[in-house]
Amino acid sequence: MTAARVDTPVLSLGDVIKVYKEGPIETVALRGVHLDIAPGEYVAICGPSGCGKSTLLAIAGGLTRPTAGRVQIGGREISGLSESELSEVRRATLGMVFQSDNLFSWMSAQENVELAVRLAGGSDARRLSHELLASVGLESRARERVSKLSGGERQRVSIAVAIANQPRVLLADEITGELDSKSAGSVLDTIDRLVAEQGTAVIAVTHNPEAAARAMRQVDMVDGKIETGPPDER
Ligand SMILES: Nc1ncnc2c1ncn2[C@@H]1O[C@H](COP(=O)(O)OP(=O)(O)OP(=O)(O)O)[C@@H](O)[C@H]1O
Ligand SMILES: [Mg+2]
Repeated sequence: MTAARVDTPVLSLGDVIKVYKEGPIETVALRGVHLDIAPGEYVAICGPSGCGKSTLLAIAGGLTRPTAGRVQIGGREISGLSESELSEVRRATLGMVFQSDNLFSWMSAQENVELAVRLAGGSDARRLSHELLASVGLESRARERVSKLSGGERQRVSIAVAIANQPRVLLADEITGELDSKSAGSVLDTIDRLVAEQGTAVIAVTHNPEAAARAMRQVDMVDGKIETGPPDER
């Protein structure tokens, strides 16, 4: 066995194909996708509706198995893993945030984050949840019920929940899609800080040009494939 090198991608997809089958109907969502994400890298995934962005993210997050191809999460090939082994790899490496938050709306921000810390097996959940809420700029809103928070604040609580396991990679699917531009800005600032201060790698699916421009690299998808255009001039 070879030792992991420091530049081993935290996430790697190799020639990934995904075909959804519903009865006689087959939809080819990914047609041979290659994508390597380096530690600490911030990548935006862009492309028209239906081109396969969410499918790519679900496969990168180990939520959906590819029809063919290689997927490595945190340097581990996941194809041979059982569901419980895969859960463990995900818990050790990944956080995920989606367009609609999956918070408990009757609980406070603090309680949501504390629960996530406990589920991630963390000790001293009270202290860590304070730190996590501070890291998303919400320490003053910690005791507020989620149902009373704004959309942008809820998304920042969702980020705090997603990073409760201190993941190396955060996967984000259209997390500013339903927000006004000010709230979206505060969520994007939070992501920037996470990348700069924690060294978290981020893969963000977005239709928002401002969000895409903040990433270190933009990946464009068309019809289930990553477009390989001329070299990035940014
Ligand atoms: N569970 C599923 N079963 C069958 N087909 C699916 C399923 N999920 C996605 N698809 C199909 O796969 C293709 C890619 O869908 P996907 O959701 O990955 O696109 P997307 O780029 O995220 O689109 P959007 O920007 O609208 O969110 C589409 O044709 C979609 O209809
Ligand atoms: Mg999508």
